[in-house]
Amino acid sequence: MSMAEHNLLVVDQDDDFVASAKQLFDGSLPVARSLEEAAETVSSGDVRMLLIGPSFANDAAMEQIRQLHNQDPSLVLMLVVEEVTADVLRKGMRAGASDVLDTPLDEGKIEAAIEQFVHDVLRRKSSSAAPRAPEEAGKEHGRIITISSAKGGSGKTVLATNLALVLNRLPDTKVCLVDADLQFGDVCLVLQLEPRFTMVNAAHELHHLDAELLDSLLTEHPSGLKVLAAPLEPAFADDITTAGLMQMLDVLKETYDFVIVDTAAMLDELILSLIEKSDDILMLVDMDLPSVKNAKLALETLRLLKFSTSNVQLVMNRSNSKAKLDNKEIEGALKMQIAASIPSDAVVAASVNEGRPVVETDPKSKVAKGFESVAALIVGEVPEAQVKSGLFGRK
Ligand SMILES: Nc1ncnc2c1ncn2[C@@H]1O[C@H](COP(=O)(O)OP(=O)(O)OP(=O)(O)O)[C@@H](O)[C@H]1O
Ligand SMILES: [Mg+2]
Repeated sequence: MSMAEHNLLVVDQDDDFVASAKQLFDGSLPVARSLEEAAETVSSGDVRMLLIGPSFANDAAMEQIRQLHNQDPSLVLMLVVEEVTADVLRKGMRAGASDVLDTPLDEGKIEAAIEQFVHDVLRRKSSSAAPRAPEEAGKEHGRIITISSAKGGSGKTVLATNLALVLNRLPDTKVCLVDADLQFGDVCLVLQLEPRFTMVNAAHELHHLDAELLDSLLTEHPSGLKVLAAPLEPAFADDITTAGLMQMLDVLKETYDFVIVDTAAMLDELILSLIEKSDDILMLVDMDLPSVKNAKLALETLRLLKFSTSNVQLVMNRSNSKAKLDNKEIEGALKMQIAASIPSDAVVAASVNEGRPVVETDPKSKVAKGFESVAALIVGEVPEAQVKSGLFGRK
C-alpha cells in the first residue's frame, strides 16, 4: 500500500509496533519515538496523518495528543491500542483522534479507517449533517417513538427499520434507531450492520454518558441512519437496566430529531417505562385473532395501571391478509381507531433476508407507501400529493 499521499508519520516507542507499521507501508515511513518529536515533525513538515501506537494509550499521552490536535485540527490522528474499549474510544475521541484501531494492524483496518474519515469529513461539510450543539438556542428536543406489540412476530422490527429510514430521508433530520429487544434484537441483522459497540458498552459508561460518547458507540447505516445496537448475546441483556436505557434515550434526544425504539413483545417494566417516556407509541397489531386479543389485553392492562393511552396509535400490519378481520370490529374491541395500515407483501420477507428494507428496494410498493403513511402519523398529516411530490424522496 502506498501511503505517500497520506504523508503518514508513525509514532511509537515500541520497536515491534514500528516494524509492523513499516512492513504494512512498504518499509519507508518516517517515525517519531515520542509525541514531542511528533509535534516537531508536524510543525516542520507536511505530515497529514499520524499513526499513534499503543505506547501512548494512557491519560498523560491523551493530553499531549489533544495538544497535537489543537496544533492542527485537520491532522488525521489514528490511535492504535491493544484493545478498543469504550473508555479508550471515549478518551481518544475527546483528544481529537479520528479513529481508534486495535492491534494487530492490517491494511484493511487502516483503509477502512481512512475511508471512514473521508466519509465523516464529507458529511461534516454538507452542513445538514453537522453535529448539532445540544445548547443550540430554541432547538427543541427530539421525539421518542416506541414501536410495540403484544404478540411476537407482528412486524415491529420491519416497521421500526423502514420507518427510521423514511424519517431519515427528511431534510435536516437526524434519526437514531434503538434496538431495545434486549435479548433477541435483530435490527442490525435486518439492516446488515456489524456493530463495533452496543448498548452494553453504553451501559458500562452511564456515570459519564454524554452525547459525544454515546455517538461514538452508534453504528451507521449507509443511509446515514444511526443505530444503537442491542446486546450481541441474550446473556448480556442483564447489563441493561431500565433506568440505564432511559438515560441513553435522554442523551440521544439531545441530538436526534427522532429516536425510534424497537422492542420485544412483552408487557414488562421496560416497556411500561418506554410508554411513559415516549412521545408516540405505535402499537402494531397483526391481522389475526390472537394479535387482536393480546392487543386488547395489553391496552386494558395499561388502562388498569392508569397509564395514559392518549399517545398510543394503532397500526395494523398485513391489513390485506387472507384472514382479514373486520376493521370496525377490531376498533370496537380495542376501543381505538386504526391510525394506519401496512399491507402484506412477499417483498418484505425477501427484504428481511437480504438485509435491505423495502423502502429502499421497492420504494413504489404498497408496503413502502404503508410505512410512509406511518411516518405521516409522526410528522403530521401529510397529504398524498406531498408524499408523491417527494417529501419522502431521497435526500
Ligand atoms: N407487511 C408484511 N408483509 C409481509 N411480511 C411481513 C410483513 N410484516 C412482517 N412480515 C414478516 O414477518 C416477519 C416478522 O417480522 P418482524 O421481525 O418485524 O416482527 P417482530 O414483531 O419484530 O418480531 P419479534 O417479536 O420476534 O421481534 C418478518 O421476517 C417478515 O418476513
Ligand atoms: Mg423484532
